[in-house]
Amino acid sequence: MFEKKIYIERREKLKKIVKKGVIILPGNQESPRNYKDNCYNFEQDSTFLYYFGMDIPHLIGVIDVDNNKEYIFGTDFTLDDIVWMGEQKLLKDLSKDVGVENFIELSEFKIYSAKLKDEKRELLFLPQYRAETILELSEAFKLNPFEFNNYISEKLIKAVVEQRNIKSELEIKEIEKAVNITREMHLEAMRIAKPGMKEYEVVAALEAVASKYNATTSFHTIFTKNGQTLHNHYHGNTLQDGDIVVLDAGARTQMGYCGDMTTSFPISKKFSDRQRDIYTLLIEMFEKAESLIRPGITYKEVHLEVCKVLARGMKDRNLMKGDVEKAVKEGAHAIFFPHGLGHMLGLDVHDMESLGENNVGYEEFERDMQFGLKSLRLARELKPGYVFTVEPGIYFIPELIRRWKEEKKFTEYLNYEEIEKYLDFGGMRYEGDFLITEEGARRLGDKMPKTYLEIEELRKFF
Ligand code: GLY
Ligand code: MN
Ligand code: MN
Repeated sequence: MFEKKIYIERREKLKKIVKKGVIILPGNQESPRNYKDNCYNFEQDSTFLYYFGMDIPHLIGVIDVDNNKEYIFGTDFTLDDIVWMGEQKLLKDLSKDVGVENFIELSEFKIYSAKLKDEKRELLFLPQYRAETILELSEAFKLNPFEFNNYISEKLIKAVVEQRNIKSELEIKEIEKAVNITREMHLEAMRIAKPGMKEYEVVAALEAVASKYNATTSFHTIFTKNGQTLHNHYHGNTLQDGDIVVLDAGARTQMGYCGDMTTSFPISKKFSDRQRDIYTLLIEMFEKAESLIRPGITYKEVHLEVCKVLARGMKDRNLMKGDVEKAVKEGAHAIFFPHGLGHMLGLDVHDMESLGENNVGYEEFERDMQFGLKSLRLARELKPGYVFTVEPGIYFIPELIRRWKEEKKFTEYLNYEEIEKYLDFGGMRYEGDFLITEEGARRLGDKMPKTYLEIEELRKFF
């Protein structure tokens, strides 16, 4: 937990933006795997964590803006709990540690919610993503649980997003800690992966690095020789000479902040000529983004400029043809790069995605639904304090290539005969985490290998 004053300041700021109403912020409950007492690792709701800091299941935070009062509802530990869990600080004391004076037993939440309803108070809810939370709030406030997301407050979403999108110095330090653990995970994988190993053996080793730093993973690790499948979670293949692997993995610190990094490297000691060639283009895309990101530019513009680097590079390699600007405008390049350039990062790996991708990443302008662009999560103008990922990719997705060729899609721009020579290539992605500063941008974390030479240098030693 941060110091008490951090949470007090965050809530004060939220109250100032919201001005009126009662903000209801439920924390997460335990989530059973197969029976009630065998749960997944507990992960607190990130908005609850941001405003109340308590990493404990089944709490509800309330900020009564009208009366300037704050409450935590929860079930305090009993002697029975202490027998099973060891001595616990009482929730009423923990609440005080985050500056909340009023702790009330959860059993009284229904009485409190009925009172709010009687008083016809403006109730401010965020979108919810867990069934048990929706049911609990629906029952307490007499709402239809199947329509819960009709009762959410746009005003509250906007206020939370505006506040959380700007990371404080303290948060940046925490994220950087997560990024550095993430970096160690990637370096470990690059040091140990070799022909004959199973993908899951490498995953075990890199996730052990997170554990070594008392961190967890920030999302399900992707480590695959079939990187053309963007979110491939299968880890059962045997690594072989000549393979290129995609590793997309991140750490989540005890404070809940996340890292998110992708590297692509050869299982042989060196890249093959063809792998090196495509990897070089990938890094040109990454470096284009690095050179452009600064306050005031929109991320959509950065994404499109990166796409032009890709299209130009593919044209140089005879895989594309025609007018590069037009090809990108029409979306032909997305055959190689069907996802967005990045997303916000913080207490969630896709920060605040539960509040709506467009609310977080788009602000006032509309999302383009063109293939490729529709997967761009961050498009808005960049501001100092934003932390986000840059993650270009180049993939040869056989089924996509086959279908588009069959449909004669973009034949003005795509040389299918040449593209088909890469059907066995797989895919590559490279991802780093950045902070927008007053002057420009800074990549978070210690130096990470990026060029093919830097990667081959590391691969010398296995
Ligand atoms: N880890 C998933 C992503 O990079 O967005
Ligand atoms: Mn990632
Ligand atoms: Mn990412």
